[in-house]
Amino acid sequence: MHKLHILIFNILLTSTIVSCNLQPIIKDNFGTKDEKLKAEKQQKYPPCKSCAIFVDSFKKGLEKTQRGKHDGGDAHWEEQKLGSYKTSEVRLVEIQEMLCTDITRGEQQCLTIAEEHESDIEYWWKRQDEYPDFFEWFCIETLKVCCHPNYFGKDCLECTDCSGNGYCKGNGTRKGNGKCNCDKGYSGENCQQCSDGFYEAFKDESKLLCSQCHVACHEGCSGPGTKNCVKCKSGWFMKESEGCYDINECVEQSACPGENQFCVNSEGSYQCLECDKSCNGCDGDGPDMCVKCADGYELRDGMCTDLTNEKRDQYVTLTRYCLYLGLCVTVCIIFQNSTWLAAIFGIVVGVYISLSEYWLKTNPVPKSPSQKILEAAMGME
Ligand SMILES: *[C@@H]1O[C@H](CO)[C@@H](O)[C@H](O)[C@H]1NC(C)=O
Repeated sequence: MHKLHILIFNILLTSTIVSCNLQPIIKDNFGTKDEKLKAEKQQKYPPCKSCAIFVDSFKKGLEKTQRGKHDGGDAHWEEQKLGSYKTSEVRLVEIQEMLCTDITRGEQQCLTIAEEHESDIEYWWKRQDEYPDFFEWFCIETLKVCCHPNYFGKDCLECTDCSGNGYCKGNGTRKGNGKCNCDKGYSGENCQQCSDGFYEAFKDESKLLCSQCHVACHEGCSGPGTKNCVKCKSGWFMKESEGCYDINECVEQSACPGENQFCVNSEGSYQCLECDKSCNGCDGDGPDMCVKCADGYELRDGMCTDLTNEKRDQYVTLTRYCLYLGLCVTVCIIFQNSTWLAAIFGIVVGVYISLSEYWLKTNPVPKSPSQKILEAAMGME
C-alpha cells in the first residue's frame, strides 16, 4: 500500500513538471500564430476601403445563394419559386450569416459595419430594383465614405486630370485633395512635363512619354544616349559631336595608391582592388597577374607559387631517410654478434622500407587535419 502511494505521488510530480515545462512551448507554437491572425482580423482600413471590402463580401454571399435554375424538375415552378426566393428574407438571412467570414484582414471592421447598418441593408434589400448598384447606394450615397471613380473629397469633386501619368490623391474616396501624384519621370500639375533627368520620348495630344537620360548626363538631356546630354557628369568628358565619353582613370599610375592594388575602370568611375596575396604589385586579379612575387612565393609556370609546402615535403623526406638509417644502424648494433640474425633482420627492415616507400608513392598522403585547418585559415585552398 505504501509503495503504491509513493508511485502515485511520483507520477503526479513527474506529470506536473512535464506539463509545466511544456506550457511555454505550446504557447510559443500556437500563441504567436493565433495572435498574428487576431491582429490581421483587427487590422483597420480607411473607411472607403473597408466599405468596399464589406460590399465585396456581400456580393459573394449573393453569388453563393444564387441557386441553379435548371437542375431538373418543373422549370416553370422552379422559376416561380426562385423568383420569390431571390428577394426573400430567407436569402438575406443566409447572406448575412456568411458575411465577413471569408476575409481575414479587417474582419472585425467588416463585422462592425454589418452590425451597425443591419437596418440599412434590409432597407436596400427591399428596394434592390430601385438601386441596382449596392456599392453606389451603400458606400457612396448612404455611408458617404466613397465617391465615384475620378472624384474625391467630402463633396465628391472632380479629380485633376493626371494625363495618365499619375493618380489623383483621394480618387474614389471622401479624402485627399484631388491633386496629382505623378509617376516617376513626370511632373507638373497635370503630370504633363518630364521631370529633371528625363526627356520627351513621345508626345501627341493625349499621351506624353518621358524616358530617363543616359547615366553620363548632368543636368538633363534633349534625347537618348550620351550625344544629347546637356553636360557630362564627373568621370566623363564631352567629345566634340560624339557626346560623353568615359574617362579611363586607370591610365594614371597614381589612381590606386596602395602598393598591392590594381585599378579597374568602370563607366564614370573606377575601383581599386587588392592583388592576389602571392603578388607584390599586379596588373589584375589572380596569382598569374603579378608584377613581382610576394615573400615566400616564387614564379613557377608563370604563376607565383607558395614554396613553403614544397620545402616542408623535402624536410619530411629527409627525416624519413634518417629514420631508415637509424633503423639499420640499430639492427647492426643489436645483432652485431650474430651475422645470421643481423642478416635476417636486415632483410626484414629492407622489405619494410621498400614496402612503405612503395605505399607512399602509390597513395598520395592525405592531408593531416591540422594542416587542412591551417590552410583553410590562411585561405590557401
Ligand atoms: C481613379 O481610379 C480609377 C479606378 O478606381 C482609375 O480608373 C482612374 O484612372 C483613377 N483616376 C485618377 C486620376 O487617378
